[in-house]
Amino acid sequence: MPGRKFINRLVGFYQRRKPLVWFTAGVIAMLLAIYPFNKAVHYTGTNEYCFSCHVHDHAEESWRLSPHVNNQSGVVVNCIDCHLPPKGQGHIWAKIKHGAKDVYGFLFKDSADYNWEAKRTVAAANKFTYESSCVKCHSNLFPVGLSVDGVDSHLHYERNRDEMTCLNCHMHTGHHNPNYVHAQNVGFGQRDETGEAFAYAAKIDTFKNFTEFIPGTSVSFEMVAIPSGTFIMGSPENEPYRRDDEGPQKKVHINRFFMGRIEVTWDEFLAWFNATSSEGRLTTEERAQIDGFSGATPPWGAPDQGWGTGQRPAITMTHYAAVEYCRWLSAVTGKRYRLPTEAEWEYAARGGTQTPYFFDGSPKKYSTRFWWNRIFGPETSNISEYAIYKENSQNRTALPHDIKENPFGLVNMLGNVAEFCLDYYAPDAYAHYEEEVLHNPLAPRRGRERVVRGGSFMDDAAELRVAARSHTRTEDWLRTDPQIPKSVWWYSDARHVGFRVVCEADPNVISE
Ligand code: HEC
Ligand code: HEC
Ligand code: HEC
Ligand code: HEC
Repeated sequence: MPGRKFINRLVGFYQRRKPLVWFTAGVIAMLLAIYPFNKAVHYTGTNEYCFSCHVHDHAEESWRLSPHVNNQSGVVVNCIDCHLPPKGQGHIWAKIKHGAKDVYGFLFKDSADYNWEAKRTVAAANKFTYESSCVKCHSNLFPVGLSVDGVDSHLHYERNRDEMTCLNCHMHTGHHNPNYVHAQNVGFGQRDETGEAFAYAAKIDTFKNFTEFIPGTSVSFEMVAIPSGTFIMGSPENEPYRRDDEGPQKKVHINRFFMGRIEVTWDEFLAWFNATSSEGRLTTEERAQIDGFSGATPPWGAPDQGWGTGQRPAITMTHYAAVEYCRWLSAVTGKRYRLPTEAEWEYAARGGTQTPYFFDGSPKKYSTRFWWNRIFGPETSNISEYAIYKENSQNRTALPHDIKENPFGLVNMLGNVAEFCLDYYAPDAYAHYEEEVLHNPLAPRRGRERVVRGGSFMDDAAELRVAARSHTRTEDWLRTDPQIPKSVWWYSDARHVGFRVVCEADPNVISE
């Protein structure tokens, strides 16, 4: 039989050349595999694939409402158009990387642990959206009909391309957020007065806690009497995560004063903003009454970040705006309000303690900088009752109601928002003091950046130590603001800073 002969010969042929067998088998296997592989690559790039896991509203519903689906042209921009780089620019590699992370998270993480909120910062979003993709579609940044704000902004972007991305201004373009604004925000902060307006400010003649009323508004706030005393400013050299600018330690005496129980709220700050702001909101007569107070210009974007106003701490104002607020508050209440000095701030925050925090516990226990905690998770009990910080903040400010007070009765001295002080910042400020005991120091007199204290909702526990010092970063904090000159009232890029007021206890008016 010729057929049999042929097969025998063929088998013999292959028996003598084993590698060829494997090669042929390989080719067949590959041909069989390519089809589903292609299908898999295709399927994992569809919106349906994304929706199979991303069922939360922020992914799907907000995308449908965004201008990338909901537009006049009828063009639909799909998930991977933004969340992966264009093909040929690292598309496949990024897909494998993100895909692996997504699947790992899906399989091994508890869905309650996904912190979506923490991913909604420009820095985080730049890691999972790709500017190269934005520019692939938006190759002309100066289209016909672009508004003047848009032209100014895009020129600003072109000059500072190394330091910013489209997301600095267009963060919510892929997922609609009704509270987001990325241009001159003229309507910001108009309050509807609900309660009855106070006719007079508080009258104080003894040194005890009081409630201040802002005349002409229904806004009031609590002030705490801080007794005079002496303390050691700065941290000892063996304190974990200490930096050099926290020493050498100095003995400091502080005179008594009053301090805001909580950080200045939006209600308080907007009372000033609305009373003084200049952009056509007031009549000439009204302006004449508040003569001497230049008002803030409207902010760029939404200063409250869309988190809401009311009793939330006011944020994103410049140091200058905070000082102007105090000046106005002094005039309308007939008292002397100002920012705390750095020494007053630390004295008040310590409340008689000399430990890293005014509550129990070591920074090593709470900080994720300690390698052990990075792997096994930091301790959060105790600190979470006294402070809003990275581990419990959901990446935003919190209302002050649930936080326990410090020994002086002050709330949120550590965390929530970092607070401006009066002093200019100098890393070697303490070394310049020569006296044995310093009395109410304020230093230095000149400088560029101001002291900022207390850490914020964005910070690790190491930055929340009472002695930890920080400062304004004017250039960084105004990076996105495309106006020329940049705003003196609002920082476009510092959403973690606010302030607290102190009121001087005038000995002529106030008895013991
Ligand atoms: C197998 C389930 C699953 C699928 C399918 C999936 N994801 Fe995810 N994705 C997750 C999980 C889980 C996380 C959270 C990961 C974490 O926090 O560790 C996540 C996070 C993200 C993030 C946040 C960025 C980050 O790195 O944490 C983006 C953006 C994202 N996914 C986009 C997509 C897109 C676009 C698709 C479709 C191509 C997709 N995902 C498909 C499960 C999935
Ligand atoms: C036009 C670009 C664009 C498109 C299209 C887009 N996204 Fe996003 N996505 C972003 C940006 C920018 C962010 C970060 C800002 C934010 O969270 O709103 C983000 C954030 C996310 C996050 C993480 C943060 C969070 O708040 O949940 C997920 C998950 C996500 N997108 C999934 C998707 C899915 C699924 C689709 C398709 C239905 C999609 N995205 C379409 C631009 C886009
Ligand atoms: C696949 C193409 C494509 C990609 C990728 C893309 N866009 Fe768009 N974008 C569009 C289309 C189409 C519109 C709607 C135009 C219209 O209104 O008809 C649009 C609208 C916009 C608008 C105007 C609407 C608004 O939000 O005010 C902005 C801003 C914008 N895109 C920014 C971005 C940014 C930032 C990225 C990258 C994260 C991006 N786009 C990615 C195609 C794209
Ligand atoms: C410094 C802030 C800023 C940056 C950075 C920025 N934009 Fe814009 N963009 C604006 C402003 C402001 C407008 C005008 C919005 C308006 O008038 O409502 C605008 C408008 C747009 C529009 C709408 C144009 C129209 O009128 O139809 C698109 C699309 C757009 N930008 C895309 C981008 C892309 C893509 C990038 C990154 C390559 C980018 N922008 C970077 C601020 C910025």
